[in-house]
Amino acid sequence: MATPAVSYSKIEIRPYAPNLGAEVRGISLAHGVSAQEFDEIRKAFLAHQVLFFRDQEEIPPGRHIEFGRMFGELHAHPAAPAMEGYPEIFEIHAHKESKVANGEFWHSDVSCDEIPPLGTMLQLHILPPSGGDTMFSDMYAAWEALSAPMQNMLMGLTATHESAHVYLGRYADRGQDDNNISCPSAVHPIVRTHPDTKRQALYINRTFTTRINELSATESRVILEMLFGHCEQIEFQIRFRWSHNDMAFWDNRCCMHRAIWDYWPEERKGRRVTIKGDRPSC
Ligand code: SIN
Repeated sequence: MATPAVSYSKIEIRPYAPNLGAEVRGISLAHGVSAQEFDEIRKAFLAHQVLFFRDQEEIPPGRHIEFGRMFGELHAHPAAPAMEGYPEIFEIHAHKESKVANGEFWHSDVSCDEIPPLGTMLQLHILPPSGGDTMFSDMYAAWEALSAPMQNMLMGLTATHESAHVYLGRYADRGQDDNNISCPSAVHPIVRTHPDTKRQALYINRTFTTRINELSATESRVILEMLFGHCEQIEFQIRFRWSHNDMAFWDNRCCMHRAIWDYWPEERKGRRVTIKGDRPSC
């Protein structure tokens, strides 16, 4: 079941792939977003799950925060250090001295939170000469492609999402002390209903999901591995190649993403604002 077609008069929308992603042109986010533009962006976001704003100038941090707040209250990352002077901004930065880069494995942002984020807005200002793409996977499509017997089995099951194995030591190279961070864990339904589109999506990911609670340890391990492999199939994916100052805005409730760190020792840097969501429910 696809999201119904929408028409636009304030922005130009070009689908990136038939089911996932759209490029947005005809708007300058650095100059602020009108109510009518916001309305169309929101519709496009719900229809395409991830938007790529092209031809942008660098968005001042205050404007970036303001744009995020149009979608709701902002989310504070439990472990990553914030940009100086802007507690709402998480800097994405990998360079020659980095030991890890952010988001290298498939995930939905901070799914370990009780109330995980609705969406994330990332603008990149420094790009490597090549590489540094971000991949996205359509979790509506992943759910819809499962057989009816598998859907029946998963419906009503819950999974634990943990973060200590991800966050402890993760930001040490940025001066973050593990004693000052929290490593949340939460239990969420394996299939969640999107609160706006009412479509169902698989809600598990390789980074944070550790256990299907109602199954034995062996069953949980095998079924989770099958589901991870299933939702990482290329048929559900797009791969975004960034241009300078592009802004990506993804819906964490119905897609996963993965940042490819294939550019070391080159640098890649940008700013991320994350919007609070609601408690996942099936
Ligand atoms: C992230 O997971 O937020 C990082 C995405 C990226 O760097 O492309």
